[in-house]
Amino acid sequence: MGAPVCMWLVLMTAAPAEAKQVLVTGGVLRSHHLAVVPVVEGLLERGHNVTFALPNTSEARGWFPKGIGGANLVYMGDESASVSSVKFPDMKNLRWHERIPVWGRMIWNGRSLLERPLVSMLDDFRGLLEQNKFDAAFSSAMSISCNAALKSSSLPWVGFVSLPPIPQMVLSDTEEVCKYPNFWNPRSVPDLQSSLLKRAQNRVECMMQRAFFHVGFLVINSLLQGKGLEPAKDFTNLFLAARINVLLGGPPLSLPIKLPQSVHVVGTVERPRPRSLPTALGRWLDGASAAPAPVIYMSMGTKYEFTESTCSNFVAVLQALMSSGFRILWALRAAQQTAFQHLLPPGGEKLLIEEFTPQPEVLAHPAVKVFLSHCGWGGVTDTLAAGVPVLAYPSFVDQLDNAQRLVEVGAAVLVLPDFSNLVQAAKAVLGNASFVEATRAAASDLQRYGGLERTLDLVEEVAEGRFPDMLPHAKAKMSELDPLFLRDHGPEKALSMCFALLVFLSLSCCCGLSIRCCFRCCCASTRAATTGGKKVKDQ
Ligand SMILES: *[C@@H]1O[C@H](CO)[C@@H](O)[C@H](O)[C@H]1NC(C)=O
Ligand SMILES: *[C@@H]1O[C@H](CO)[C@@H](O)[C@H](O)[C@H]1NC(C)=O
Ligand SMILES: *[C@@H]1O[C@H](CO)[C@@H](O)[C@H](O)[C@H]1NC(C)=O
Repeated sequence: MGAPVCMWLVLMTAAPAEAKQVLVTGGVLRSHHLAVVPVVEGLLERGHNVTFALPNTSEARGWFPKGIGGANLVYMGDESASVSSVKFPDMKNLRWHERIPVWGRMIWNGRSLLERPLVSMLDDFRGLLEQNKFDAAFSSAMSISCNAALKSSSLPWVGFVSLPPIPQMVLSDTEEVCKYPNFWNPRSVPDLQSSLLKRAQNRVECMMQRAFFHVGFLVINSLLQGKGLEPAKDFTNLFLAARINVLLGGPPLSLPIKLPQSVHVVGTVERPRPRSLPTALGRWLDGASAAPAPVIYMSMGTKYEFTESTCSNFVAVLQALMSSGFRILWALRAAQQTAFQHLLPPGGEKLLIEEFTPQPEVLAHPAVKVFLSHCGWGGVTDTLAAGVPVLAYPSFVDQLDNAQRLVEVGAAVLVLPDFSNLVQAAKAVLGNASFVEATRAAASDLQRYGGLERTLDLVEEVAEGRFPDMLPHAKAKMSELDPLFLRDHGPEKALSMCFALLVFLSLSCCCGLSIRCCFRCCCASTRAATTGGKKVKDQ
């Protein structure tokens, strides 16, 4: 009696899930697209049919020259979506008064900067939705207009943010957001707890960021409306528009935050890729192992730009590192190598400068002891997976926050903007095994959030019309809120208002004075000119 039932049960569980037609988008930048590749590969491996919509720019057409397994890559829109010319200035190496015009320009040019990258794929994307019968979509949060189109279609979809939950991004309520460390100047939680002044300062900085993002939000919404799409409710809703949104990270690599119901934190979506190193690079690293000499691997990601002064600062410190016995493998883009040819020392057994390095494989090589990194999330997960501690040199967006979390868990040391503490920091990290241990511990914490498998499960659930809750472990960890973020921040609010008033008054004073000065100078010179003119006439 029992046997047939057992047999039937086995058959039921062993039967492969029905193959689904899944549509995937990958955002704007190359790094956004690389972040979804493991999901594309994972879906293919589970037997689904994947269509990956990419921008039709010459840059993007070169990203996956061999395709991605059996995925159907479709290129949409035209060259105008290219962001290869968009530069991110290195704010930390600018003085505060040099930063103001940079922000000003970003706000002033916001619309023209955002428009083409955001909407150029839209018409083709709508066509794709109409002509095909997909079961579900997996869409990068940075594909903002595609997501707006998905929202107005009936296709169920999973949104994907290839970052940990940042309060500015996941919380709508300004009051809640500004209790957290702001993400351009992230302080540690104990640091915030220690002083009312610091909390008020944090709050002022947070409000300024809110204002900046609100301008961006208005611009994006008007672009969406211009295309006949429904505008987003608020800034958060631009990125978390799906009924299920997958985010990376999780404590201790991001702070516990009260998340919207739709958000699932999954740790990372990496895939072990058994790839070997290019021969010459492998030989160079083996040489370092044999010496033995510790290798510092340095990569600042796909968008960081050295300037003449940051590059010469770094090169000066490079010499000091090499004389201290370190060897350096430096991943530097071809264009940057050309621009700073005159500064770069010649390569050799102590220094190797490469245009491209397969990062996970390099980090996994036993000679590599430290990673000098800009702390983009991809770099963070690669280095955690390899158990290599970090010398953190963050620049923008989530990088500062990622760096701060790594420092807090004991897996990194912050490098100063002029690299002046680099040699000391490298020696400290190399000479203390606690950094490697902390890196491994953080990696194992991150693995408990479900990762790629959970992400793939969610896509399958959504394709079946189910919208499950976050896994209990992740949910529990995300709700371990520090009391600092739960209590009311009345005094902080009052103090920050005073700050803001003070700043406003001093700015108005400065403005007033300079206008007055201008008037005086102008009047004086006009008077001089008229009297001078008279004199000439008189003569
Ligand atoms: C995969 O999806 C694409 C786009 O919807 C479709 O053209 C193709 O026929 C599908 N392939 C299979 C094997 O279902
Ligand atoms: C993509 O752009 C190239 C070059 O501009 C063009 O030849 C091609 O037809 C475009 N593809 C699509 C699908 O629009
Ligand atoms: C190693 O680093 C940890 C954390 O930074 C510190 O607490 C410890 O004292 C260090 N140990 C030595 C021997 O320097």
